[in-house]
Amino acid sequence: MTTNPILQINHLQKKFGHFQALKDITFSVNAGEVFGFIGPNGAGKSTTIRVLLGLIRATGGDATIFGQDVWHDSVAIHQRLAYVPGDVYLWPNLTGGEIIDLLLKMNGSQHSQRTDDLITQFGLDPTKKARTYSKGNRQKVALIAALSQNADFYIFDEPTSGLDPLNERQFQLAVLALKQQGKAVLLSSHILSEVERMCDRIAIIREGSIIETGSLEEMRHLTRTVITVTLQTALDVTQLAGVHNAEPGQHPNEWQFSVEAKSLPAVMATLTEHHIMALQSTPPTLEDLFMHYYTTEKE
Ligand SMILES: Nc1ncnc2c1ncn2[C@@H]1O[C@H](COP(=O)(O)OP(=O)(O)OP(=O)(O)O)[C@@H](O)[C@H]1O
Ligand SMILES: [Mg+2]
Repeated sequence: MTTNPILQINHLQKKFGHFQALKDITFSVNAGEVFGFIGPNGAGKSTTIRVLLGLIRATGGDATIFGQDVWHDSVAIHQRLAYVPGDVYLWPNLTGGEIIDLLLKMNGSQHSQRTDDLITQFGLDPTKKARTYSKGNRQKVALIAALSQNADFYIFDEPTSGLDPLNERQFQLAVLALKQQGKAVLLSSHILSEVERMCDRIAIIREGSIIETGSLEEMRHLTRTVITVTLQTALDVTQLAGVHNAEPGQHPNEWQFSVEAKSLPAVMATLTEHHIMALQSTPPTLEDLFMHYYTTEKE
């Protein structure tokens, strides 16, 4: 069965004057999928999103949403698209409630029971003027307006950077509900635990290029697993291929080390020969992967 992706980006490029902000961006997002978009400051996440929204025009490659061109067909696309920017600017003299209703109207939507539920869930006081809101409260206003729309594709650019953990949780629950309804979500984030918890697939962007795409499981294969093992008979694990940072533990024949994914089967076979008495393995976290990609040179 083949399904058309909701978002398809092919070798997208964007130049600002002589500066090439996007060099080569290719990935796709399918219906029912939460897609994580991560990378260091200035990597090109917001620029990619601005191209997708039709706010700036790509200088190379192409991108489609719902099969339509993001630049030429932006009017049609926006009828089924909801978006929350990282920096939310609001009309200072309107109340939060007025702004939510205004944003909804601008998107051809209207205030519904879902809007009221979201206001309660996020604990927003909608009667206050926007100029009195903190950063987190401004973000809530934009999130409530976006989440109460009945869109098919939701784009969030670092939506939880100003939210406290309780509201971050509310946001995550709301996104998971969208996923269950078969909606597609693109989530740019620096909060790795959030990406790890919510995203089906991830793209890592660095200096305007996508350097890795895939599920977290697939990416984990690219790095090392940490193993703590106690053996019955002595073994010098430092001699095994693919083993790094090996250190003896507190007990006799106890070791802690990291092992490359490709060497894991051979290492496990050798450990088994020495009779494993206890073993604990920790898969690499997204944070390990992140550090790995950010600190190693591109080959
Ligand atoms: N209008 C512009 N003119 C010139 N350069 C720009 C413009 N907009 C963005 N850039 C540059 O493009 C690069 C990518 O910026 P972008 O905002 O997309 O990064 P980001 O990945 O969203 O970073 P962050 O995590 O800090 O939000 C940066 O070097 C930025 O300075
Ligand atoms: Mg950004």
